[in-house]
Amino acid sequence: MTDVTRRSLLRSVAALGVGALAACSTAQKPGSTPTGSGRPSGKGGRFGVGDYNTQEVADELRYIEENIRPLPEKDTKRILVTGSTGGLGQLTAAHLLARGHRVVAHARNDRRATDVRRDLPGLEAVVTGDLKNLDETRRLATRINKLGAFDVIIYNAGEYGVPNEEILNVNSLSPYLLTSLVGPPRQSVYLTSDLHLGGDLKLGELRSEGTDVTYDDSKLQILTLAMAVARRRPGSRVNAVAPGWVPTMMGFANGPYAPDDLRAGYMTQVWLVEGTERASRGTGGFFFHREREDDVHASVGDTRAQDDLLDAYAQRTGVTLR
Ligand SMILES: NC(=O)c1ccc[n+]([C@@H]2O[C@H](COP(=O)([O-])OP(=O)(O)OC[C@H]3O[C@@H](n4cnc5c(N)ncnc54)[C@H](OP(=O)(O)O)[C@@H]3O)[C@@H](O)[C@H]2O)c1
Repeated sequence: MTDVTRRSLLRSVAALGVGALAACSTAQKPGSTPTGSGRPSGKGGRFGVGDYNTQEVADELRYIEENIRPLPEKDTKRILVTGSTGGLGQLTAAHLLARGHRVVAHARNDRRATDVRRDLPGLEAVVTGDLKNLDETRRLATRINKLGAFDVIIYNAGEYGVPNEEILNVNSLSPYLLTSLVGPPRQSVYLTSDLHLGGDLKLGELRSEGTDVTYDDSKLQILTLAMAVARRRPGSRVNAVAPGWVPTMMGFANGPYAPDDLRAGYMTQVWLVEGTERASRGTGGFFFHREREDDVHASVGDTRAQDDLLDAYAQRTGVTLR
């Protein structure tokens, strides 16, 4: 799939609108069972194929186990990955573990924590907290702080095709709360999407306790948040990544079709963590497959829009970013 084709596909999806997508979001990869906190666990073997992972993700996890070798200990870091029980978050955590980094995973509940401990032996710890519930997110921040300082936090957890209130809490308000309440790491990475281009910052909605925030809006909010944090915390490295449309459970939410490369979808995060190339050692960047992404919504680099978003978040949550 050429880049042009990928982009035109994404534009068509953006043009369809999230409502149309949500309407068909119950479509699953053939043979899969419904996802979400209510599903049975332990199905689909070690990597949960058809339960919480696609066959493609499970195959890639096996590839990592068999092929990735550790770095010298002096080059390793301590990393937290949110939403690391499946998909890109699990692949990122697995790759970093195989490289010898100390990795703390995050699961929505104890059952999923058991799954990820089984899938990824060697994790330093697993923290739990369902990001749908902002009180749980606040308790999660306390649990993370008790574990001590991190070199890197990857804000990966995300939802798609669920009610807008859940999208808002998981994709936008929770990363804001964790960014504000957890001791700042040396480096942060925020997962966004090309679909942010079809989004709106929805500042009025945030300020008025509204919940009408679509997936595209939430991904514009988190990308703008990342750039605001990069500006407010000049001593740390803060970047954002659009992973492409890749074959995770989320990627297959609208049918068995995801045109982008799965490995490229998580290796940008690994590349940023390890900072092996000059281009990966900066701050305030927005990347797609290790390259600077130029196709960006106008609000993202607008410092006034960034400040307005931070104000709206503070008003909504009662927590101010320092
Ligand atoms: N896949 C794509 O094509 C694509 C494209 C653009 C951007 N992205 C972004 O990439 C990131 C990873 O997506 P993915 O494709 O890997 O999705 P995925 O396979 O559905 O995995 C999402 C991860 O987030 C966790 N999560 C979801 N809701 C949660 C909640 N309420 N509390 C705690 N954890 C929760 C999931 O936990 P469970 O395992 O318990 O469900 C899972 O670990 C997301 O931010 C997404 O928006 C993905």
